[in-house]
Amino acid sequence: MITKIAWMKALAVAWALWLGIPVMVWAQADLTGYWKFSVPNGGVSFLELKQSGETITGMGRGGPGRPLTGTLHNGKLHLEAPFGPASARRILIYEAVVAGDKFAATRQAPEGELVQGTLERVSHDEAIPPRLPLPDLRDLPDNGLARTPPMGWNSWNKFHDHFDDAIVRQMADAMVSSGMSKVGYTYIVVDEGWSSYRDKNGKITGNARFPDMKALADYVHSKGLKIGIYSSPGPQVCGGYQGSYGHEEEDAKTFADWGYDYLKYDWCSASGVYQSTRADLQGAYQKMGEALQKTGRPIVYSLCEYGLGDVWTWGAKAGANLWRTTFDISDHWESMDRIGFAQLDITQYPQPGHWNDPDMLEVGNGGMTGDEYRTHMGLWAMLRAALIAGNDLREMTEETKSILMNTDVIAIDQDPEAKPLQVQSVEGKGEVLVRPLTGEAVAVGLFNRGDQPAEMSFRWDSLHLGANLGNKTLKARDLWKHEDVPVTGDSFTATVPKHGVVLLRVAAGAFRFR
Ligand code: GLA
Repeated sequence: MITKIAWMKALAVAWALWLGIPVMVWAQADLTGYWKFSVPNGGVSFLELKQSGETITGMGRGGPGRPLTGTLHNGKLHLEAPFGPASARRILIYEAVVAGDKFAATRQAPEGELVQGTLERVSHDEAIPPRLPLPDLRDLPDNGLARTPPMGWNSWNKFHDHFDDAIVRQMADAMVSSGMSKVGYTYIVVDEGWSSYRDKNGKITGNARFPDMKALADYVHSKGLKIGIYSSPGPQVCGGYQGSYGHEEEDAKTFADWGYDYLKYDWCSASGVYQSTRADLQGAYQKMGEALQKTGRPIVYSLCEYGLGDVWTWGAKAGANLWRTTFDISDHWESMDRIGFAQLDITQYPQPGHWNDPDMLEVGNGGMTGDEYRTHMGLWAMLRAALIAGNDLREMTEETKSILMNTDVIAIDQDPEAKPLQVQSVEGKGEVLVRPLTGEAVAVGLFNRGDQPAEMSFRWDSLHLGANLGNKTLKARDLWKHEDVPVTGDSFTATVPKHGVVLLRVAAGAFRFR
């Protein structure tokens, strides 16, 4: 139906032409269809748009789809696309002057830089690639790696994708010069942001910021460290860089040829290809697990699918050495507290070689107090979690170093027998957690999750340490204060600061603390 406005526009154009005035005859584009937003360094995201008049609706595609809304007014496109988990939902804003099926566009993330990119019309199959066959489920052999929880550094928490080859090398340097490598930190893991498009032979390549991934691995190895890389069973990793969809075996071989020792494999856009059911998750992760084992290179396999499908019940079968049990941590007390203590429900699953991963450390990133970071490190150690630092290792305060490099706390995390953590008591916001250690020893954590200092205690005999030995033979040490604690009376009592922890190692008989 021709509207009154359209008639008036047509009349105005005819009038102008009759007078000889040059006019731009502007026709409203129809953006309905699939679109790809790409940025020069290799990140892409897909949008499915439906246009009705000037109103746009649609979905973000290539990952967990989210409804988006926008307008096309006088050729100017404005789209608002929510992203991230419900608890931390944020909005991306796309803007462009529409010109055909490919044109320049920008994307603005909240508190993020304005990204210049290109919007381009693509086919349904490029935006929503078809499901690939997954292997029949079977139990993969144990790869023999990660007998204790992996320790290292990962780029994501501090840098997101704003980092490059030079920064990774500097982190390797700092891991050695700070003394971290001496106390067990080994893996330097390059998270999202290194990959670019595939070359003409289908081989995954590093982007302009990572021109030579093999040379980077050689450098990290030259420091006596190991190196990790990051990909996804989906076509893209979470921020849009290249994933391993359809190239699993080839990528595993490439990573092995380059000399990588660790792969973090993140579900991300696979949720747009497969179902997020246990069967599909296990199948997709087994596929890469098999591919890694086929390379013959020892590669620690780190699953990142946020705990979907109760991964702790099958991760080891898919060949994993560790599996994320939660959505992403952030550098705030609420996030760390919520994630950390939720792990208490699944402490029976980790075994040497196969660990729960409540996400990387935020220690040193500045969003928590010293007490909160000591709780973070202490709780992760009690949980037998991977200790993957996520801060800038080049500029650590003495306090950050003292937390990340507390060898007595690390020894709890790395205890060879890896016995499960037990909840001794919960009173209000106070939780007393106990972890039996190798030999006649236990780690005891008095965690105060409350907003006020709290007096907390436990009975010595509740530790069941050498029933026949009697209290006098127990030795106890405060692992954050680095001082012995007298074992007197029936109980230990301490005032634990708000959001803080008192962490003890209690041993029967002689024990040398480092
Ligand atoms: C997911 C993961 C994070 C990080 C980002 C990268 O959110 O959970 O640890 O790897 O992807 O985009």
